[in-house]
Amino acid sequence: MQTVGKLMKIFVTRRIPPEGMKILSAAGVCEVSLWDSDEPVPRSELLKGVQGAHGLLCLLSDKIDAEVLDAAGPNLKVISTLSVGFDHLAIDEIKKRGIRVGYTPDVLTDATAELTVALLLATARRLPEGVEEVKNGGWSSWKPLWLCGYGLSGSTSVSGLCLCSGLAIAKRLLPFGVKRLLYSGRTAKSHAAEVNGEFVPLDTLVSDSDFIVVSCSLTPETQGLCNKAFFSKMKNTAVFINTSRGAVVNQEDLYEALSSGQIAAAGLDVTTPEPLPTNHPLVTLKNCVVLPHIGSATYSTRGIMSDLAARNLLGGLQHRDMPSELTL
Ligand code: DGY
Repeated sequence: MQTVGKLMKIFVTRRIPPEGMKILSAAGVCEVSLWDSDEPVPRSELLKGVQGAHGLLCLLSDKIDAEVLDAAGPNLKVISTLSVGFDHLAIDEIKKRGIRVGYTPDVLTDATAELTVALLLATARRLPEGVEEVKNGGWSSWKPLWLCGYGLSGSTSVSGLCLCSGLAIAKRLLPFGVKRLLYSGRTAKSHAAEVNGEFVPLDTLVSDSDFIVVSCSLTPETQGLCNKAFFSKMKNTAVFINTSRGAVVNQEDLYEALSSGQIAAAGLDVTTPEPLPTNHPLVTLKNCVVLPHIGSATYSTRGIMSDLAARNLLGGLQHRDMPSELTL
């Protein structure tokens, strides 16, 4: 750890919004080395950069596993991820080594909820298809049955798998005239009362919903949860939205469900892998809207995430409270 007059070494795996970098330099306790690019740090550079580091500030696209931790060595005392998700961190290995972890919950909930609603509406009302038709000359006339989709108003139910960040989404959907809001998860949540959310078994949620929004985190329990059996219980007119993690969905099964008409449409802000190859079958489907993981992408949210990630890192380095420490 830091000895008087000696700076602690920090490795930052990407160019991040200036808010965080300013905090790190102003603290005057660390020597920051930065992978100075908007593109991910190559694995070999990550393994090099982390050597001897006391702190690591990483992103959700960096896989922090035993190899990285070994490369870092015993100095490493804190990992701060600029994300609310932490499925890219080998938590068991991290815990074993007594390393503290900071993350960025709450501060991106509003931005992600806004994006989720935007994606839901874009998918259900077929906006990308409409824009494409304007550009390619397919717009020949106003036609009664052309580009019809599904509306939220009066829909029987919109459902969230897990109502944690789902609450912010539900609050934004209510004014559209949604009749019922269902949710599933391990336990009922008291805050669901704010939106009259009904806690139901997963099967009920899947079969009764007109729109399904996946907003849960990726855990061994949720990995591959949305699979063939799941899609086969959905209504043919239902729309599926995922803004959590790609691995919650079995993408082959989703492709099958979309191409066979088992479900109406899907909107995905997250995929496996990321980026999704441009020739991936899902990209070829008109009824699948794929976004490049931009849920939290507003200037102000990313600035706040950067600020929080830096303060988490400093808190951990200086044996103080971290503003948002993950309980391991
Ligand atoms: C996160 O922080 O985990 C989100 O997925 C980023 O949008």
